[in-house]
Formats: sequence, C-alpha cells, structure tokens
Amino acid sequence: MSLLSVNNIEVIYDHVILVLKGVSLEVPEGRIVALLGANGAGKTTTLKAISNLLQAERGDVTKGSIEYRGDRVDQLTPNDLVRRGVIQVMEGRHCFAHLTIEENLLTGAYTRGLSRAQTRDELEKIYAYFPRLKTRRKSQAGYTSGGEQQMCAIGRAMMAKPAMILLDEPSMGLAPQIVEEIFEIVRDLNSREKVSFLLAEQNTMVALRYADYGYILENGRVVMDGDAESLRTNEDVKEFYLGVAANDADGAGRKSFRDVKSYRRRKRWLA
Ligand SMILES: Nc1ncnc2c1ncn2[C@@H]1O[C@H](COP(=O)(O)OP(=O)(O)OP(=O)(O)O)[C@@H](O)[C@H]1O
Ligand SMILES: [Mg+2]
Repeated sequence: MSLLSVNNIEVIYDHVILVLKGVSLEVPEGRIVALLGANGAGKTTTLKAISNLLQAERGDVTKGSIEYRGDRVDQLTPNDLVRRGVIQVMEGRHCFAHLTIEENLLTGAYTRGLSRAQTRDELEKIYAYFPRLKTRRKSQAGYTSGGEQQMCAIGRAMMAKPAMILLDEPSMGLAPQIVEEIFEIVRDLNSREKVSFLLAEQNTMVALRYADYGYILENGRVVMDGDAESLRTNEDVKEFYLGVAANDADGAGRKSFRDVKSYRRRKRWLA
C-alpha cells in the first residue's frame, strides 16, 4: 500500500483559475519520489494541496481525493497532518531570520513535548546529519548562507520526527555543489531515518539521480511518469531538458514537453 496517494485532483484558485487538471501520484513507504516540471507547471500547488495549505492562497481541491496511510486527509488542517507525520518544507527555505539556527531547529520539536535531555539528543542527531548546522548553531539564521538556510528548514522539519516530508524546490538558487550536499543528506535521511520524500524540483537531472520514481508535470497534468532510471535515460526527457540548457539558459524559449514528444513521434513516423 502507498503511504500517500493522490487521486485525480483538480485545484482551482480564486474560484476560476484551474491549475491542476487531474493529477494522480503515489508515494510508496520509504521512497523518494520526484515531482518534476518547469515554472508554473503546478508542483507547489500539488504539494500545498496535499498539506492542506491551499486555503491560505484562496485555492480549493474541487475534485479527486488524497489519502495518507489509507485515510482521506483532504479535509484535515495542516496541523492535523503534521501530527500524523507529514510536513512540508516550503519553497524558499523558510527559517525564522531573527532566531539562531539552533532556536529554529528547536521550534520544530515543540509539539512533541520532549524533556530537556530528549531535546538535546534529538538536536545532536540532527547535527550528525547536518554538520554545517552544528558549526553555525549560534548564528542568526538570516545571516547564514542559502545552503545553510535550506539545511535549517529541512533540519527543523526533521525535529518533528516526520514519516514523510514534502520538500519544495530544495535546489533553488544554490550552487551545484551545495545542491549535491543537500540531496546526499536527503538520501541519508531516507535510508537511515526511513523518511519518505515527495520532492518538487525544476532541476530534473539532479532530482532523478536521487529519487526512486518521478512524475513530470506540465500545465497541471502528469505527462509522464516512471522509475527514475528509465526517466533519466528516456530520449524525450533528455532532449527536452538538455535541449533547454543548450539553446536557452533562462528557459524563455522552452518548448513544451508535449511538443517534443509529438515532434519525435512525427519524425519516427516519417522515417
Ligand atoms: N495563489 C494563486 N492564485 C492564483 N494562481 C496561482 C496561485 N498560486 C499559483 N498560481 C498559478 O498556478 C500555476 C502553478 O503554480 P505553481 O506555483 O504550483 O507552479 P510550480 O510548478 O511550483 O512552479 P515553480 O517551479 O515556478 O515554483 C501557475 O500558473 C501560477 O501562476
Ligand atoms: Mg513551485
């Protein structure tokens, strides 16, 4: 059975803007699943639909259902879901800028009612995964680097002892080496702490090196899914993503993934 199962959801913002047009996906227990796609494809909307954060954005799930451990969760509050073990780490690494790194981490554990000694142990455990956070623990989060802030946001989520983390665009604005470092930690947390991940990424090739399975979203629909290895080596995926890097650094002239597919289909047909 899947830990998380999203069944054909439709999301509308402001009662009129249809953004997700029937998205389905599964996260099996203990896996890392990547939700891929360009700017505006609907990745963040999907994560917020799962964690019930859409209301704050005047968004509604108008069709479909979301199940976690077999129970419908689409009517719960974000807090209910956190209590069940699902936490979202928002896009843009939200730390409390005026608190130190350590204070930020501590805010993640406050619902657990731990003793002082238990809290210490939990902190040390997080620092073992994130040695950079240990060296920066007395620094005000707002003055730490982007990579450290992303680590702080993930570390804080870990302090709540989640079964599942919804991780939105962890690579955003970070140097490639730091991105690798963060994905290595995600892999460690997955294999040693048994945390399942659903991660939204524009950085397809990096995400597919660490994920077990991927879904490619385009314009509010899943246009392709498969195990990470098969997506990574898929000619259409390569042509689309590598083509973008070669022709157009900022993606402004990006072809639709569907265009690539129908173009290739036409080519094969002509040949
Ligand atoms: N609060 C909102 N009200 C209206 N439209 C919205 C709102 N939030 C997002 N949208 C629209 O929904 C679509 C999907 O946005 P979303 O943020 O889910 O995409 P994304 O895949 O996360 O993109 P990015 O990679 O840029 O983060 C976009 O067209 C966006 O303009
Ligand atoms: Mg997004």
